[in-house]
Amino acid sequence: MVRTKVKDALAATEFGHTVLVKGWIRTRRGSKKLSFIELSDGSTARNLQLVLEHSRVTDELLAQLSTGAAIGAEGTLVQSQGKEQSIELQVERLEVYGPADPETYPLQKKAHSLEFLREIGHLRPRTATFGAVLRLRHSLAFAIHEFFHQRGFFYLHTPIITASDAEGAGEMFQVTTLPLDRLPLAAGAVDYSHDFFGKPAHLTVSGQLEGELAALGIGEIYTFGPTFRAENSNTTRHLAEFWMIEPEMAFYDLRDTIALAQDLLHHALRFALQHNPDDLALLEDKYEPGLRAKLENVVASEVVVVDYTDAIDILQTSGRSFDFPVTWGMDLQTEHERYLAETHFQRPVAVINYPKAIKAFYMRQNEDGKTVAAMDILFPGIGEVVGGSQREERLDRLEGRIHELGLPMENYSWYLDTRRFGTAPHSGFGMGFERLLLFCTGMGNIRDVIPFPRTPGSCEF
Ligand code: 4AD
Ligand code: MG
Repeated sequence: MVRTKVKDALAATEFGHTVLVKGWIRTRRGSKKLSFIELSDGSTARNLQLVLEHSRVTDELLAQLSTGAAIGAEGTLVQSQGKEQSIELQVERLEVYGPADPETYPLQKKAHSLEFLREIGHLRPRTATFGAVLRLRHSLAFAIHEFFHQRGFFYLHTPIITASDAEGAGEMFQVTTLPLDRLPLAAGAVDYSHDFFGKPAHLTVSGQLEGELAALGIGEIYTFGPTFRAENSNTTRHLAEFWMIEPEMAFYDLRDTIALAQDLLHHALRFALQHNPDDLALLEDKYEPGLRAKLENVVASEVVVVDYTDAIDILQTSGRSFDFPVTWGMDLQTEHERYLAETHFQRPVAVINYPKAIKAFYMRQNEDGKTVAAMDILFPGIGEVVGGSQREERLDRLEGRIHELGLPMENYSWYLDTRRFGTAPHSGFGMGFERLLLFCTGMGNIRDVIPFPRTPGSCEF
């Protein structure tokens, strides 16, 4: 018999026929003669109630029907007579695939803290919370691909191993096959001619530079892949391995880019509201009151745009005392970003034209000589979710900046070629996928929106 998913069983409009469902027991209660089993198979946030007359199974099998056990159940789908009309399965045959000893299975029915669940990360997908998060993760990823496809963007696969530092910030994990206990030396330094690639290589921090190469040939591309940062930031917003969406567009200026980011955000959140109502309801109930109203609000409103210089002014005249004092030229700290998005504007806000000294070498220099055409989109409750810019398309300016910052010009020769030949105005941004998920799920810690988090000192599985 073909298996029916719980999601489809619960959506049934006809009853009385036989179905087979398979999943894991969430809870079991009942009397001497009868058990009510809540079955989850992960296809939806909701469980299917199984009604089992004990006379249908052996005592031995009955003893194995505890929380966490994997079972298959065949029976008749009926509308239950309970207070709210709902659907249940009257079990005729039941099979246990794998029992879960109640003495040792860690996920018993009481609510577990997210901290505890992090310690048993391998079992998190069994829980209601992580089921909802993982389904939303899928929905947002799918919606993002759909958005770009509808707009005529091409999905570009950029390398994970790279020989350049896209952000110029030096926060990279090195990739090497050299024996670390006996490194080949030449004139006192490591001799990389013996390394796998014949030169130092790292895990990428961003696919942007390669994205620019493709955009300056096929127009509009996006990447969606893992990126790696070896920054020692043990916060609720930083991962050492995270996923980033990076569109790059020929002939876009900064304003076009902000509009694109806004449309992408609206599309992704609207998709989640439409396709994951049960997951959002569950998360709203457990973690963030008003979650769905918050998302609906964002979908219905424009992203505010504010100049960095005006943002500094707003912060300075806010009457707030911040841990990091506010001065023009500083990088905004999370407390500042959150004040702007949460308290002042109360919605996502794009801060533009940052001082060039705090931004990456590739951003387009403004005519004032002090700022660059950058944009960060800051979100209530989180801070920066999007970082992007118009790119410096003028060869002399770009070389000047690389030189000024003391970056190794020879590593960027291929990048500079795009400015040497047929250079064109272009722009792009990076959206942190897990930061977007934090906003969409109401979860407070980025470790809880990625299946297998990597953070300083922590690399399980
Ligand atoms: O602002 P970032 O560093 O920008 C770039 O990497 C550009 N090359 C993007 C581009 O223009 N194509 O990173 C972009 C976004 C941030 O806004 C943030 O949402 C996320 O990536 N991000 C992180 N997310 C989780 N953990 C970290 N350690 C992150 N660092 C950045
Ligand atoms: Mg940034």
